[in-house]
Amino acid sequence: MIFLLVPLLFGPALLSAASKVHWQKRNLNTVQSIYNLTIYPANAKILTEGASAVPAGLFNATATGRVTPVGEFFGFDDSIEYFFGLAPLPTGQPPNGVITNATLVAFASGCAEVAASTVYLTVRALNADGSAGAYISTLKQVAFWRFDKSGAVLQYDAWIPSLDPFALLTHGFDVYTPAGMNATIQAVCAQQALTCVGANTVYDGVDDCVTTLTDKAFGRFDEAWGDNVVCRSIHVLLTKIRPEVHCPHVGPTGGGKCIDVSYNDVYFNDQFLFGSPLGEPFHCSSDE
Ligand SMILES: *[C@@H]1O[C@H](CO)[C@@H](O)[C@H](O)[C@H]1NC(C)=O
Ligand SMILES: *[C@@H]1O[C@H](CO)[C@@H](O)[C@H](O)[C@H]1NC(C)=O
Ligand SMILES: *[C@@H]1O[C@H](CO)[C@@H](O)[C@H](O)[C@H]1NC(C)=O
Ligand SMILES: *[C@@H]1O[C@H](CO)[C@@H](O)[C@H](O)[C@H]1NC(C)=O
Repeated sequence: MIFLLVPLLFGPALLSAASKVHWQKRNLNTVQSIYNLTIYPANAKILTEGASAVPAGLFNATATGRVTPVGEFFGFDDSIEYFFGLAPLPTGQPPNGVITNATLVAFASGCAEVAASTVYLTVRALNADGSAGAYISTLKQVAFWRFDKSGAVLQYDAWIPSLDPFALLTHGFDVYTPAGMNATIQAVCAQQALTCVGANTVYDGVDDCVTTLTDKAFGRFDEAWGDNVVCRSIHVLLTKIRPEVHCPHVGPTGGGKCIDVSYNDVYFNDQFLFGSPLGEPFHCSSDE
């Protein structure tokens, strides 16, 4: 009798505890897998091969979210390009650092559909033999995630605090001096001349690009979203993946992305971005 009663009394609690462990592990695994793909050379593969190189099950086809202070991203391609296409490559002279380690320093998931995390993405120089070299800096990203029924990311609201000092350390020079601004403009214009060609051309050559961008606000990495040079220096990285989409963002008009936005609008337009009532995406709808 006692043996029969025990499962009746504790069965549901045990089942619920088991499923809790299941989705906590599942969500942790999804978030860690996403950040692992920012590590070089995993990110390089996605840059060259595009969406097909992203393992199935990480992002829903309609994945949408905001990454403060960079922008809002609509759909799978936009989302994966932000997460992986912007992770640094060992280009430049001396080579930029790359992400060598993605450590989830905080993670909580109170229900199957929502989790919160903080990741530290370590940036190190790359030695000539491809091994990780000297420590340069760490990118911190705090995020809330919503998952679909299968555990893929459906919505995210992420935040990179203090992108400014991080950008200065990883550039290796002060981008805000006259020489630093010039070097940044020269680099953006040289890169777009390689990737924004043919039907995707947005400037009449490098000189036109330099003249146009010199007349624009330079911007700041801490507030990268705007009609400025810094915004274009971020989006130009993505012209390697889908030039037809990203070249206009680097061009004279900013193509709807590198445009001046209203802080009061874009950082709070959750209803527009997520298509559900304010606060709904990142609250647990059930307590199981
Ligand atoms: C993430 O990468 C680390 C280091 O390579 C590895 O140990 C870990 O298993 C990976 N985690 C996932 C979920 O892919
Ligand atoms: C993607 O999310 C939508 C909305 O929640 C859902 O209907 C669809 O089934 C999801 N796709 C997959 C492959 O799970
Ligand atoms: C990543 O960093 C964590 C924390 O510093 C460390 O425990 C782990 O060994 C590192 N992993 C790799 C692959 O370097
Ligand atoms: C900007 O940099 C380019 C390339 O290094 C150089 O030729 C040019 O003189 C610089 N212009 C200014 C105003 O410093």
